[in-house]
Amino acid sequence: MLTVDSLAAGYGALTILQGVSMHVDAGEAVAVVGPNGAGKTTLVRALCGLIPVTGGRLEKDGADLHATPAKERAARGLAVVLEGRHLFGELTVRENLVLAERHGLRTRGHRRRFSLDEVMALFPILEEKRRQRVQLLSGGQQQMVAIGRALLLQPDLLIMDEPSTGLAPKVFKDIQVVFDTLRSRRVGLLLIEQNVRIAAAATGRAYVMAMGRVIDELNGIDWQQAVGSDRLARAYLGGHPGSRATSIPEMKVAA
Ligand SMILES: Nc1ncnc2c1ncn2[C@@H]1O[C@H](COP(=O)(O)OP(=O)(O)OP(=O)(O)O)[C@@H](O)[C@H]1O
Ligand SMILES: [Mg+2]
Repeated sequence: MLTVDSLAAGYGALTILQGVSMHVDAGEAVAVVGPNGAGKTTLVRALCGLIPVTGGRLEKDGADLHATPAKERAARGLAVVLEGRHLFGELTVRENLVLAERHGLRTRGHRRRFSLDEVMALFPILEEKRRQRVQLLSGGQQQMVAIGRALLLQPDLLIMDEPSTGLAPKVFKDIQVVFDTLRSRRVGLLLIEQNVRIAAAATGRAYVMAMGRVIDELNGIDWQQAVGSDRLARAYLGGHPGSRATSIPEMKVAA
């Protein structure tokens, strides 16, 4: 469903992604892990059209995304939860969600996968705070609005950039319910997540990025047992042979 082939992208003259290739099949959950500065967020920005792609191929359901402006990628079933969240701060929780739902239904041909009531049920705190302006919410609560909004765009592929960042372990459990819901509806997930324990619980395989490239791919048992493994630690440490192999991929453990 999503095919990324030899993708190059960056900022102005600075090329960050140096030929990234990966794919996500329909309804599949895939993780992208890697150290700070690996290019994970840059990849997300390129996928959703916030920065231009300077080389390679980017396709969704066989259609070239290259020429699809950022605003129209949601109509192709792609929704994103970005690191900075990008909400309408002056609008209330409910207004943010209603706008997303309307937009989602209009652009996705009224194929409803998620309803406002369901999103409120996923995150009960949002129901409680529905009349509050989003800018007055805590970071974690804003994150929930951002996820709710992405679901109401009625995607068939959700891309999430570090959803666990800044969330209390208890709140993060709510997001794991979202992962379960996505799986049960056959909505694909591309999860950018530095916490390997969380990522492995939510996905079936992973790409490891470093220095703007995919340097490894982990499947099955290798991925499920990746926490603390030498193979992953080497990627995080740039292959430095004398580095300690433990602790690194376990950082930011929230569970
Ligand atoms: N707006 C920008 N302008 C120029 N360079 C940038 C910009 N944003 C990121 N970079 C550079 O691109 C590289 C990759 O950054 P990116 O944010 O994609 O990494 P990341 O893998 O998401 O890291 P993290 O785990 O810290 O979120 C870094 O070297 C960074 O300095
Ligand atoms: Mg990032």
